[in-house]
Amino acid sequence: MKNILVTGGAGFIGSNYINHILDERDDYNIINLDKLTYAGNIENLKKSESNKNYQFIKGDIGNSEFVRFIFEKYKIKHVINFAAESHVDRSILGSEIFFRTNVLGTNVLLETARRFEVERFLQISTDEVYGSLGEEGKFSEITPLSPNSPYSSSKASADMMALSFYHTYGMPVLITRCSNNYGTFQFPEKLIPLMIINALNDKKLPVYGDGLNVRDWIYVIDHNKAINLVFEKGNIGEVYNIGASREMKNIEIVKLILKHLGKSEELIQYVKDRPGHDRRYAIDSTKIQTNLGWKPSFTFEEAITKTIDWYIENKQWWERIISGEYRQYYSIQYKS
Ligand code: NAD
Ligand code: TYD
Repeated sequence: MKNILVTGGAGFIGSNYINHILDERDDYNIINLDKLTYAGNIENLKKSESNKNYQFIKGDIGNSEFVRFIFEKYKIKHVINFAAESHVDRSILGSEIFFRTNVLGTNVLLETARRFEVERFLQISTDEVYGSLGEEGKFSEITPLSPNSPYSSSKASADMMALSFYHTYGMPVLITRCSNNYGTFQFPEKLIPLMIINALNDKKLPVYGDGLNVRDWIYVIDHNKAINLVFEKGNIGEVYNIGASREMKNIEIVKLILKHLGKSEELIQYVKDRPGHDRRYAIDSTKIQTNLGWKPSFTFEEAITKTIDWYIENKQWWERIISGEYRQYYSIQYKS
């Protein structure tokens, strides 16, 4: 059995990872450490809660004493760090918690993992650390880091700290950098779930700026399969980019959602742009495809349809968010 500390496993990508991997592997014992911020939701893990190889612990990755206690108690030898403050707009409103969790929290995990001589430490990162592209080119693993938002700066800092633990102490660190994800259980502050839910409620769909910013979309299950491949087979000290080569302009996504739901494009509302808005992201995933044999298994068309249908069928999941104590986190509009 592998005792794996999964942090941030009650969030969007982490919960999908746990629900998926417990079906695939009976040699994984998952200890999920999550602070349950507004973005964490224990309901996402209903499918896994009774699995004998799964345990949930509420706590902060930044609490070094508590983290040490968990490593000791569960004989942790493997770490996958999903835990983060993850929303760019929120990092623009205030960056402190981003620094605390994404940088200092990761540092606590790294220091503790070093002391306990872990065999594998996978840091889940993002393509946003590379900055913004013009109309041509893609991010490869050797693209220099050039983060623009407080969120991406904090993620880049964590990446560099993690790599420094490999270079300095020979710690078995790996990093994945993925493009924009979509799928089940994504908190409706991010583009796709926000637009689906607003459209379902006949509310305006706020498109930042000219709507022509480009993101490279991947289904969360494909991301998680890539994560596990890197976790199992990746070379330590290395970075792996993950992306499904599906670039879309924001306005194209918004129109596609409206069309799928049979709603009018009159719901679209262009609003003031996000400050420092990165224009384009695109991932070159040649390395993981060539070295580890990964490729996406879902087409965009089938996965976006599954995703939209999931939000239609799981109204009770998102209704509690948009009408409950976390409704303030639902959508951010910049003042014009
Ligand atoms: P999310 O915001 O949905 O979930 C984050 C989870 O971390 C939540 O469950 C939250 O409660 C938990 N958390 C936050 N602070 C914590 C702390 N101090 N201690 C313990 N737990 C804490 O985020 P997500 O979209 O699932 O992203 C997961 C990871 O993947 C992040 O590291 C993010 O940077 C990275 N990533 C996300 C995307 C994307 O498109 N969403 C793309 C590439 C990489
Ligand atoms: P988001 O889902 O926040 O991901 P990221 O900024 O990390 O790529 O945003 C995706 C794109 O959608 C980004 O260009 C900003 C844009 N966007 C809007 O136009 N309106 C919105 O309400 C949101 C949340 C995002």
